[in-house]
Amino acid sequence: MSTPNGHTTTVAAAASLRRVFRGTFVHSTPHAPLEILRDALLGVDTEGKIAFIERGRDLDAVCESHGLDSSDVTHLEQHEFFMPGMVDTHIHASQYSYAGTALDVPLLQWLNLYTFPAEARFKDLSFAHTVYSHVVKRTLRNGTTTACYFATIHTEASLLLGKIANDLGQRALVGKVCMDSNDAVSHYKESTQESYQETCRFIGELLERKYPLVKPVVTPRFAVSCSGTLLGQLGEIARNNDLHIQSHVSENLEEVQLVKELFPDSQSYTDVYHKHNLLTDKTVMAHGCYLSDEELTLFRETGASVSHCPNSNISLCSGMLDVRNVLKHRVKIGLGTDVAGGYSASMLDAVRRTLDTSKALTIQDPQHHTLTFEEVFRLATLGGSQALALDHEIGNFEVGKDFDALRVNVAVAGGPIDLIQHEEEPKILLEKFLNLGDDRNIVEVYVSGRMVVPLSQQPQDTE
Ligand code: GUN
Ligand code: ZN
Repeated sequence: MSTPNGHTTTVAAAASLRRVFRGTFVHSTPHAPLEILRDALLGVDTEGKIAFIERGRDLDAVCESHGLDSSDVTHLEQHEFFMPGMVDTHIHASQYSYAGTALDVPLLQWLNLYTFPAEARFKDLSFAHTVYSHVVKRTLRNGTTTACYFATIHTEASLLLGKIANDLGQRALVGKVCMDSNDAVSHYKESTQESYQETCRFIGELLERKYPLVKPVVTPRFAVSCSGTLLGQLGEIARNNDLHIQSHVSENLEEVQLVKELFPDSQSYTDVYHKHNLLTDKTVMAHGCYLSDEELTLFRETGASVSHCPNSNISLCSGMLDVRNVLKHRVKIGLGTDVAGGYSASMLDAVRRTLDTSKALTIQDPQHHTLTFEEVFRLATLGGSQALALDHEIGNFEVGKDFDALRVNVAVAGGPIDLIQHEEEPKILLEKFLNLGDDRNIVEVYVSGRMVVPLSQQPQDTE
């Protein structure tokens, strides 16, 4: 069945339906950064997938065909809408311990002075449990339904992060960090062999647990802290097991120069990863501020994606990524908070800092084609799902995809937004939410059809 709105519909058996919502849905498609479905009916099946999208005015017929009573339908309020859950394509869960501090030096000093000592503490599983529980809860409440996490070099603590994400219901890629070079903090590194073996153990044990929404991601920290031997071994592991890969690339000029010196046989920073089979269509590389056109072409050819981390790029004075240029090269791109180089764990902050950076580029060059808020909305949702090669499952409201969604109430009592003119236009409500909203406006969060926020409504085996 097809509606005049273009909503695709399928028929789900009554018994297999879990929830039905009626109201406004906003999302992106590859063709439109913002599509608004007004007065739509969306059904979620017991597997958490979107079973149908129909017109609200066809409520009676839909209820009849699905064997529903109209009281089974949840009606959104006047200033509410559903949007897809946001995808944080790059966040260091371990660095949440010092988020909001320590932003007074550039990247390489910052790693040595603050980051490596902070990450070394995750040998202690009880500390890891505290930090990881906080970061998963905080990001869920702020609308991150999918997170691509760096943990630390510690296998047990990295497995614990996977368990906590699973228990709290967040979709996650979890990476045990690999690094066999570290001159600054000698106790925070592994031997090449240890890094390889522990990565194999981490992947094996995480997969064995069969968490439905949590997968491992191969995680060389960056070319500066990995030998060529280790990079090659990690490329092999990813290829043999068809796994995701994440790392950092071309974040800061000093780092780019150092990589040139460490890998003189490579043509570029990107080429270092390419030579070691680390650029695939399941690879996401954070930052990319200084990627050349040739490097971006290599990203497109291999299917690798960029995670844009604007808060971190500014906070560590690393650079300003020209997202428009990345899009022009048809490279997949999503947004990342990059906690704690970025001080905020909220994807709404990543949306705002993306707009700020684009506007700063326009101030520098009035010819620059500033990103629109609709385009940035797409980057935070569908773009992120593409960057993580999960767009067949999540990213927007398409029948057959998982229902990962935020119920947003722009006018929530006690919230941060005053609707002076009682605006009802969904596009205005979305823009207000993206610019002014916070977790108070995110009244419910769903991952794979399961309500995971408010947090109290779920089984809490993770404190
Ligand atoms: N490059 C290597 N490691 C890191 C990290 O932890 N944060 C950031 N922003 N860049 C990195
Ligand atoms: Zn990072």
